[in-house]
Amino acid sequence: MPWIQAHLTTSKAQAPLIELLFESLGALATTLEDAKDEPLLEPKPGELPLWQLTRITGLFEGNINSDELRQRINQTLNSDVTLTLELEVLEDKAWERAWLDDFHAMPFGSRLWICPQGKRPDQEDAVIVELDPGLAFGTGTHPTTALCLQWLDRTPLEQLELIDFGCGSGILAVAALKLGAKKVFATDHDLQAIQATAANAEKNGVLERLQLCDSGHLPDHPVDLVMANILAGTLIELKALLTGLTRPGGRIILSGILSEQAERVSEVYAESFMMSPPQQQEEWILLEGYKK
Ligand SMILES: C[S@@+](CC[C@H](N)C(=O)[O-])C[C@H]1O[C@@H](n2cnc3c(N)ncnc32)[C@H](O)[C@@H]1O
Repeated sequence: MPWIQAHLTTSKAQAPLIELLFESLGALATTLEDAKDEPLLEPKPGELPLWQLTRITGLFEGNINSDELRQRINQTLNSDVTLTLELEVLEDKAWERAWLDDFHAMPFGSRLWICPQGKRPDQEDAVIVELDPGLAFGTGTHPTTALCLQWLDRTPLEQLELIDFGCGSGILAVAALKLGAKKVFATDHDLQAIQATAANAEKNGVLERLQLCDSGHLPDHPVDLVMANILAGTLIELKALLTGLTRPGGRIILSGILSEQAERVSEVYAESFMMSPPQQQEEWILLEGYKK
């Protein structure tokens, strides 16, 4: 069955009303996006800030009457939105997985490759992570993940115990294990991430050396390396916890930090870590520190 996507660009004030209207007209899902180039950084938990101009998309079953949809929207908003409402027909497809069509084998550093299932790079000594992120974050295409993967590729990991804090798809945990880490503890507050990490570890034959932890069951001893690709605000909030999880002389790798936030995060962690110069990819920064 085809689907219909309705797009409408509106003001910040009207966006919640239109979202509700789409839902009341039977939208199966609604999405809010930036209609101009106005980044919103670091919303606090529970906060849903909106852009001055917000583009709302509603996904409707294909049999919805599009004339009636336009009419109901016009009536509710008391204005003629016919000119700005765009209706788009989507052919039937598993939309949440459609991005996989564009997922290719990608190299990180000198040996490490992230590959969709069944695709292999033409490199004899390649260390391959076969990945299906499911609905969790982490394919390697985002600079914050890429910075961590490149760091793992150039670091000797044998004999090391790691924590992947905020594991998402498990991409970093599995890469570390394939590159020789002794053991990885992976944690995330999102259940889909824990499931995706377990599935990816199994697919790559490293499940035995992986321990999945919910937030209440982190390792009871500090480890050699803690890696966290989360946002800057969360990294600052988690400073005491992440510091306690790193053994003296061990290392911390922090990613998910915009360049203008790096100094603040570095300052906070410098209380307990000797911080190295930041590494940058596009506008994103990776910070590395040795525990004092
Ligand atoms: C940017 S993604 C990183 C995923 C993956 N590690 C990577 O590098 O691509 C951040 C992940 O951290 C998780 N996360 C955010 N805050 C968290 C918290 N306070 N405790 C545990 N997990 C958290 C999110 O659910 C998400 O999966």
